[in-house]
Amino acid sequence: MTDTAASRYAHLAPKALQVIDLEGPERIVSRWGNLWVGYPRLKKIYDKMEVMLMTPPTTRPRNLLLLGESNVGKTTMLRRWAERKNDAAAEAERLCDPALLGEWAHIPVVCVETPPLGDEARLYENILEKLGFPLPASYSTSAKLRTVVKLIKANRVGLIILDEFHNALPAHFKQLLRFNVVLKNLTNETGIPFLVAGTDMVDQVFQKDDQLHRRFSRATLERWPYDEDWRTLLRSFQALIPLRKPSCLDDEDIARTLHEVSSGRIGDLSYVLHDAALLAVQSGEERITADLIKPL
Ligand SMILES: Nc1ncnc2c1ncn2[C@@H]1O[C@H](COP(=O)(O)OP(=O)(O)O)[C@@H](O)[C@H]1O
Ligand SMILES: [Mg+2]
Repeated sequence: MTDTAASRYAHLAPKALQVIDLEGPERIVSRWGNLWVGYPRLKKIYDKMEVMLMTPPTTRPRNLLLLGESNVGKTTMLRRWAERKNDAAAEAERLCDPALLGEWAHIPVVCVETPPLGDEARLYENILEKLGFPLPASYSTSAKLRTVVKLIKANRVGLIILDEFHNALPAHFKQLLRFNVVLKNLTNETGIPFLVAGTDMVDQVFQKDDQLHRRFSRATLERWPYDEDWRTLLRSFQALIPLRKPSCLDDEDIARTLHEVSSGRIGDLSYVLHDAALLAVQSGEERITADLIKPL
C-alpha cells in the first residue's frame, strides 16, 4: 500500500487498502472471513462479559445466557472477544521478565462449541483441546473432568463460553439435567462463570429448570431495525469492503433494499454484500449498486 493508494481510495479503511491492489475475486474472498465490523449495541454485552471476567472465583458465579436467533452475530462477537483477551494475556506474558513466568500460559477465556446432545465427555474434550491438552477419548469422563479443573486453575481461566448451546437441546430431559451437574461440578471446583450462547429455545428449556434459570442472567442480540444505526453499520461495511469506488450503501434506497433482503440479520447482510462485491469486481463496476444486490 502506498500513500497514493490511501488518498486515491479515501472511502476505505486501512485494512481494505492492504488488499486494494489485488486483481479479481481474490480481493474480496481472501479476507472476507476476517472482516469485522464493530457496532455500539455490542458494548452492553461486552461490558457484562468484562465484569464476569474480572470477578474473582466465587462459589456462586453469575452466569450469562446470550440469546439470539441464528445469524445475528453471536459466534463472531464471542470469538473475537475471546481472541482479543487471550492475545492480550499472551502479549502481557511475552513482555514479562522470563524469570518471573510460570510454567502455565495465562488463558483468560475458553470458547468452545457445545457438542451434540450436550455430551459431557465431549464437552470436556473440547475444553481440553482449546487449552492445548487433548486427552485420548479412552480416558474416563471423571478423569477428563479432573484434568479440565486442573487446567482451568493452572491457566487461570476466568470465563468459559459454551457456544451453540442449542446443539445440546434435542437430548432427553435426563441428559439436559446432566448439564446442571456439569455446571455444578465445574462451578464448585473452579468458581468461574459460564456464558452460554444459543437460540431462544435454550431459554425456554432453562426456564423449565429452576436452578438453571436462577443461575443465569440474560442478554439478547437482536436483528437490526431499519434506522440510522443500520445506515451507520452499512457505512462501516463499506469502508472495509475493498472496492475501488465508493458504493454509497447508506443511500436510502440501497440501505432499505439491504435491510429487506437481509431481514436485519448481520449474517445475511454479510452474505449479500459478499456476493454483490464479487459481482462489482467481476463486472469492473467496482462499487455496489442496487442492481448488484441479489436476494438470498
Ligand atoms: N461483527 C461482524 N462483522 C462482520 N461480519 C459479521 C459480524 N458478525 C457476524 N458477521 C457475519 O455474519 C455471519 C454469521 O454470524 P454468526 O456470528 O455465525 O451468527 P450466530 O452465531 O448468531 O448464528 C458470520 O459468518 C460473519 O460473516
Ligand atoms: Mg453461532
